[in-house]
Amino acid sequence: MNQIITPKNNIHAAITVPGDKSISHRSIMFGALAEGITEIEGFLMGEDCLSTISCFQKLGIDIQKQSEKIIVHGKGLHGLTAPAQTLDVGNSGTTLRLLSGILAAQPFCSHLTGDASIQKRPMNRVAAPLRQMGAVLNGRDSQNLFAPFTIEGRKLNGITYTLPVASAQVKSAVLLAGLFAEGQTAVIEPEATRNHTEIMLEHMGANIKKIGNTIYCNPVSQLHGTKIAVPADISSAAYFMVLGCVCKNSRLLLKNVGINETRTGIIDVLKAMGGNIAIENESVVNGEKRADIVVKTASLHGTTIGGEDIPRLIDEIPVIAAAACFAEGTTIIKDAQELKVKESNRIDTVVTELKKFGADIAKTEDGMIIKGGKPLHGCTTQSYHDHRIAMSMAVAGICAQGKTTIVDAECANISFPHFYDILNNL
Ligand code: S3P
Repeated sequence: MNQIITPKNNIHAAITVPGDKSISHRSIMFGALAEGITEIEGFLMGEDCLSTISCFQKLGIDIQKQSEKIIVHGKGLHGLTAPAQTLDVGNSGTTLRLLSGILAAQPFCSHLTGDASIQKRPMNRVAAPLRQMGAVLNGRDSQNLFAPFTIEGRKLNGITYTLPVASAQVKSAVLLAGLFAEGQTAVIEPEATRNHTEIMLEHMGANIKKIGNTIYCNPVSQLHGTKIAVPADISSAAYFMVLGCVCKNSRLLLKNVGINETRTGIIDVLKAMGGNIAIENESVVNGEKRADIVVKTASLHGTTIGGEDIPRLIDEIPVIAAAACFAEGTTIIKDAQELKVKESNRIDTVVTELKKFGADIAKTEDGMIIKGGKPLHGCTTQSYHDHRIAMSMAVAGICAQGKTTIVDAECANISFPHFYDILNNL
C-alpha cells in the first residue's frame, strides 16, 4: 500500500497511542507461564504482538479477546506443550529471542521461523549464553545462527553472563531460561536496557533482584496470574512528540504514556534540542511509570547523542534523525551500531531515505551526522518493510514542503495499527 502524506501545521490534539509493544509481548509470555488467569488491558493489537499470541496458542495456551481485554489462561511454568507446527514469529525479534529462552528449557523440541527480515537478524547473541546453560539450538549454520532453527529442550544450569551488546532481548532470554535452570542465573549489564521483564516477572512472583548492574534470577515453584494494564508506547508517542516540536503553532497531548526511565531517552534528547515538553499526571501501575506528555512547538537545535543514552532511545533514532533535519546546526548520533541489525539496517535506510527529502545527512560507522535547518521537500520514499522507517518518513513528510508518498506503508501495523488514520485526522 502507498500512503500519501501532505504537510500540516497548527496541530492541536489529544492522542492516545496504542499499548507498549515490549510490555504487551511480555504479558502474553509470562501470563502463559503463570498459574491461572492473566487479564491484560491496553494490549497492543499490532502484528508483532499477534505473532506472540499465535506462538503461545501453538504451545497449548488458551488466549482469548474479551471486549477490550486479552485473557491468558496460564498453565504454569511446566504447562507448555509440544507445538504440532512451526512457530512463526513474523517480523518480531522480541518474540523470537524471548521465546528461545523459554523453549530452551522445555521437555520438547520446537522449530522457529519468521519473515525475510527476521531470517537476517543475529541469533548468536541469544544462542551463546543459552548454550552455556546447556541448551541445544541448531540451524542451517549452527555457528552463525539465523532463523529458521530448532530448539531441543534440555535441563539447564544457571550461569553468570556479561552482556556483550546492550540488549534487553538477550537479557530477557537468559533470565527466562534462568526461571527453569538449576541454581542462580545472573546477567551483568554494562549499560542499562529496558527492564520490563524484571518488573513484570517480579510482579508475578519471580525471585528477581537487581544489585548494581547485575540482575539475579533464582528459580521459584510458580508464577501467579495477574491483571496487567499496558501503558501507551513511548516509541509510538515519539512520532507525535517530534511533530509537536516541529510543526508550527502546535500543541499535542499524549495520554497515558509509559515513562519507565529505561525508555525516556527520546524526551531527554528532544529537551536537549530545545523541545518544549511537559510531563503531567504521573502514576505507577504494576511497577511501570506512566504520565501524560504535552508537547508544544519549539525551535530545535542540534545535539550529540551516544554512549549509555543509546539503549534508552534505540528505536526512536529514525524519528530523531527526522527531527534533526529541522533543527538548526549539527546533530551527531554515535555508538549506535546496533541500528544495523534492526528490522532493516537503520543507518542505511534512514540516511538513504532522508536524503530523498533533500536532507544533509551522512552515515558513519556507528551512526549518522545531520546538518539541519534547511527545508525538506516531499518525495517518494520506501519503507523497506520496516515499521519505524515508514512512520519516521511520514513525520518527515508532514514537516516537509509538498506531497510525500510512502511505498509499502502498511508495515506501520507491526507496532502501530491506525497510525495513518490518527495522522490524517490531526
Ligand atoms: C526490545 C528490545 C530492543 C528494542 C526492541 C524491543 C524488547 O531490542 O530495539 O524493539 O522488547 O526487549 P534489543 O534487545 O535488540 O536492543
